Amino acid sequence: MYEVEIKRLDDQGRGIAFIENKITFIKNALPHEVVECKITKKTKKYNLGEVIEYKKKNQKRVDAKCPYFSICGGCSLEHLEYLDTLEFKKEKEKRILEKEHIHYPEIQVIENENPYFYRNKLSLKIMNGAIGFYEENSHTLISIEQCFLARPCLNEAINVLKTFRITNGEVILRCNTNDEILIAIKTKDSLIVNEENFASVKIVGIVLNDQCIYGQPYFYERIHHLLFKISYDAFFQVNPFIASHLFEEVEKNISSTNTVLDLYSGVGVLGLVASKKAKKVISIEIIKNAVLDNIENCKLNKCNNIYPVLGDAKTTLPKIKEDFDTIFVDPPRKGLDKNSLQLLLQSKTKKIIYISCDPFTLARDLKELQSVYEIKKFMLFDMFSYTYHVESLCVLKLK
Ligand SMILES: C[S@@+](CC[C@H](N)C(=O)[O-])C[C@H]1O[C@@H](n2cnc3c(N)ncnc32)[C@H](O)[C@@H]1O
Repeated sequence: MYEVEIKRLDDQGRGIAFIENKITFIKNALPHEVVECKITKKTKKYNLGEVIEYKKKNQKRVDAKCPYFSICGGCSLEHLEYLDTLEFKKEKEKRILEKEHIHYPEIQVIENENPYFYRNKLSLKIMNGAIGFYEENSHTLISIEQCFLARPCLNEAINVLKTFRITNGEVILRCNTNDEILIAIKTKDSLIVNEENFASVKIVGIVLNDQCIYGQPYFYERIHHLLFKISYDAFFQVNPFIASHLFEEVEKNISSTNTVLDLYSGVGVLGLVASKKAKKVISIEIIKNAVLDNIENCKLNKCNNIYPVLGDAKTTLPKIKEDFDTIFVDPPRKGLDKNSLQLLLQSKTKKIIYISCDPFTLARDLKELQSVYEIKKFMLFDMFSYTYHVESLCVLKLK
């Protein structure tokens, strides 16, 4: 057992202390707290620790609402006031940018009006009939009754899921702002699906091992005056309130333009936002159903200047011989691939709007892009409240 003082928080919101000169990451420990802890894992470079007793508490500490807070890896900042979580995210972002010597303007932070019960997607595990999440850094399941980040209708859907009698598998629950729910299940078990059991919730579809077995394999969402069809395997932003602010900001930052490229387009949301101001939008996306949704979304929203292309950005972008004056990039966590980054640098496109859910790969890519581009705007959207994750939007202008 060790008594240590917490020096600061790491990028995942864990307290940092030093035990015998080795950095030790301790969950649920805040700066200036003195804790008695035990080491739960030792590696050559660091230790992981667990608090046994708080000897001195930080005055900013609040009680976490979620009973699974200290064991589940989902939300890591619930022991802070909401505004302090935003300060943590801003400081984290600054540290990462400064490490890569990025020149950035003042960072604007967009708050989440509903920092609890906001997520429209829950990824659950089922083991031996119990439904829940894995404990942090392990494959031990924590059975849960509800998640404090998920929209209430998804928590109700967990009860419906119990009636399916799945023993082992994985489930993704998604919903729209009308509380319509789509369930996607991967399991080798046979299901018991009895409609009477879900009279209390609005289930629009059930997909079992990529086959639709009830209703339809998609749902609709209306955000920012646009209607989106979203298939069970297509990406959509997990926080509809923050997504609407993000779309507004994208719209604000494009003036009348000729040709827009929407790289990593998902179901086409950013291209649809831009289409009224653009002559032409080309979107590129790797998931087939998302591209088909994009085609449908163009019809639903009467946008006939969008050209969705199915393909890997890395190999598709070099084949597109167009001059773009605005490019949106919204890649997955791994950021831009080297080929696409080089093409962006050579393209001399006037404006790039880079949206990212990973500050490390964003900083890596900005380091290259800043040789040709200046970062005019930097915003953090609190898309993933009470977790350590951040969503950023950068507006880059050709120097
Ligand atoms: C963060 S999402 C953004 C989607 C969209 N911009 C939105 O806001 O809904 C990233 C998207 O990139 C797609 N993607 C991942 N790897 C890709 C690749 N190599 N080439 C093209 N698209 C890819 C994913 O399927 C996903 O739809």
